[in-house]
Amino acid sequence: MSWDFRTIIEPFRIRAVEPIPLLDRKARERALARAEHNLFGLRAEEVTIDLLTDSGTGAMSAEQWGALMMGDETYAGSRSFRRLEAVVHELTGYPHVFPVHQGRAAERILARTVLEPGKLVLNNTHFDTTRANVEQAGARAVDLPTPGSDDPSYACPFKGNIDLANLEETLQLRGSEVALVMLTLTNNAVGGQPVSMANIESVSALCRRYEVPFFLDAARFAENAWFIKVREPGYDRWRLPEIARRMFDLADGCTLSAKKDGIVHIGGLLCTRLPQWAEKFRCELILGEGYPTYGGLAGRDLEAMSLGLLEALDEDYLRYRVRSIAYFAEGLERAGIPVVHPPGGHAVFADAGRLLSHLRPDQFPGQALGAAFYLEGGVRGVEVGSLMFPGARLELLRLAVPRRVYTQAHIDYVIEVAERVAARASELPGYRILREPPFLRHFSASLEPLEAYICASGRRESCAPSP
Ligand SMILES: Cc1ncc(COP(=O)(O)O)c(C=O)c1O
Repeated sequence: MSWDFRTIIEPFRIRAVEPIPLLDRKARERALARAEHNLFGLRAEEVTIDLLTDSGTGAMSAEQWGALMMGDETYAGSRSFRRLEAVVHELTGYPHVFPVHQGRAAERILARTVLEPGKLVLNNTHFDTTRANVEQAGARAVDLPTPGSDDPSYACPFKGNIDLANLEETLQLRGSEVALVMLTLTNNAVGGQPVSMANIESVSALCRRYEVPFFLDAARFAENAWFIKVREPGYDRWRLPEIARRMFDLADGCTLSAKKDGIVHIGGLLCTRLPQWAEKFRCELILGEGYPTYGGLAGRDLEAMSLGLLEALDEDYLRYRVRSIAYFAEGLERAGIPVVHPPGGHAVFADAGRLLSHLRPDQFPGQALGAAFYLEGGVRGVEVGSLMFPGARLELLRLAVPRRVYTQAHIDYVIEVAERVAARASELPGYRILREPPFLRHFSASLEPLEAYICASGRRESCAPSP
């Protein structure tokens, strides 16, 4: 239905609750020190509002919990698989449907079966696990984001698009090296930004012309479909399943982490319409995930996924979801925290580089802001900047919102925490790395705050602590 009230209400009632920990400042300081100043090192019972990720952290519906009891655990040919297959056929139109334990398993199977050293994969922006799997296969992951996508103030409605001119030129010059073109919907790495139907159509046409397979990373297919409905001319009367089906129809297959818009705690899919690729996927899947009718999951997980994929396309839910992210972004801005524009579908990205302009990238402004949110109010986000991607163009703190978990009061609380953080922004110290692993360092690096000091010029700066 249409909603013309100012107040966004959660379009659900809550019948099962989980207490959240409320800690005092001293306890938070102790917890962060114990975690060696890495927010990934915090324990669940040390976090009041956990905005680390929207992946696998959503709340399942009563129907999904009920469906768990209907899980058919038959090893081969389970009824739960056939139910899932029917739902995914209807949703995507793809004849070959493989469940996997999560999104990166689909990426690994795809990369190991269709890529080889020297090949290229072109994408609007690879998510980090997709990039890692592409590179593990010896291929090169090339990002072709739309111009302006790295400008936090550029409020383009489809900032997740691929750069079509660049794509066409790359296909023209190096078409024989390109093994695959992908579109990540929504484009997580640039802020959960959507891709327009026109962009998907153009990519599809180019891929057909140059005879290159085209896959979607459809982790957030439902949020992307909503943005098309409300932002792209001509789609306002389309039903969301029709928009989603059109998106999938334009591609040859998809990888899909069901931990996002499948609203499950674990699960993923690899689907295609290409029979030769399906055969390769099947063999590889058996090696790593299990038999193709369960793919590393229990029958009950398949039941929950079948329902979650449909619930994610509910209009009332998506209106609330996208509006509540925008509400969060507006509140943060009012509190004095600059954010990436426009707000995306699953998270708000705070522009830590701009807010903490006294810190250099190698002093990790996103980490500094993340630590401040935690110390101030027990709110956990994740740094997306030079700590995660050395040499990153932006220094951000991502605050991702789990699906159907937090209410508007929780978000109002985070905004209040943000006001206190913003008031002390110029005093926040930078960080330095004490120890780091050889790759994906943000997960487990040990960090230490730098001492803030007023330098001779009177400007507040950060420096390494004296040896
Ligand atoms: C766009 C995108 N693709 C793939 C993945 C990987 O999925 P998973 O975490 O289920 O392995 C993620 C996870 O965050 C993602 O955001």
